[in-house]
Amino acid sequence: MEVVLLPTAQDCGRVVADAVAGSVLAALARGGPVVLGLATGSSPLLAYRELLRRHRDEGLSFAGVHAFLLDEYVGLPAGHPESYREVIRRELTDSLGLDPAVVHGPDGSAADPLQAARDYEQQLLAAGPVAVQVLGIGANGHLGFNEPGSSLASRTRIKTLTEQTRVDNARFFGGDVEAVPRHVITQGLGTILGAQHLVLVATGERKAEAVAAAVEGPLTASCPGSVLQLHPHVTLVVDEAAGSRLARAAHYRYVLGHKLADQGW
Ligand code: F6R
Repeated sequence: MEVVLLPTAQDCGRVVADAVAGSVLAALARGGPVVLGLATGSSPLLAYRELLRRHRDEGLSFAGVHAFLLDEYVGLPAGHPESYREVIRRELTDSLGLDPAVVHGPDGSAADPLQAARDYEQQLLAAGPVAVQVLGIGANGHLGFNEPGSSLASRTRIKTLTEQTRVDNARFFGGDVEAVPRHVITQGLGTILGAQHLVLVATGERKAEAVAAAVEGPLTASCPGSVLQLHPHVTLVVDEAAGSRLARAAHYRYVLGHKLADQGW
């Protein structure tokens, strides 16, 4: 795992954009459609703005890219402004010039959400692998909406949110916790591990404990983020505050400062 500790959230946004653009360009150069895995929430927003800037000002092209979301609320009507499909369209994919037909997410408004979860897993497997998956992490260590206790081998399915996650996400629903759905469809931890490159971004002191547990704690379902330790290509990008509980912070800085040209990660 490559741990990149940076002074500010803006720096994190730039480095995540570098990682995403690099993996997308490499995959496009290999030919064929490229699958980009997208998280929602606030953590990746600065990276998304940087990708939009590069698309607008520097001609970074996403032609040939298909996007797949990590998760979706169950029960919000299609087109609800806080459904993750709408959020990602508004924040990123429309402005990147991606046709909504190539932006995929679990159908949380389906009459049969269990089947919708199974269908999404199949759709992802058929289109994949995901070249690069952007991730955030919950303050309780959740990845996607795999809350603590989720199987490390899980596939896309319905999960129940913790009350803490509903409280955390109430800010997107005008502060009304009751408006935050209780259930979600989320890619499983095993599904997420199928991506070729995982790029996790975390900023702020509230994430410090989860980041330390994910990177330096034991591999355990009690911290779903610890599943990153099983993946061969992870870039973890954190600002000083989110990295403040990392015991090996000095070593991560040393490693980055002394990389060989072709060392990899
Ligand atoms: C969102 C997702 C979640 C968020 C996490 C952090 O698609 O899968 O795991 O990444 O809840 O949310 P923010 O970034 O809003 O702190």
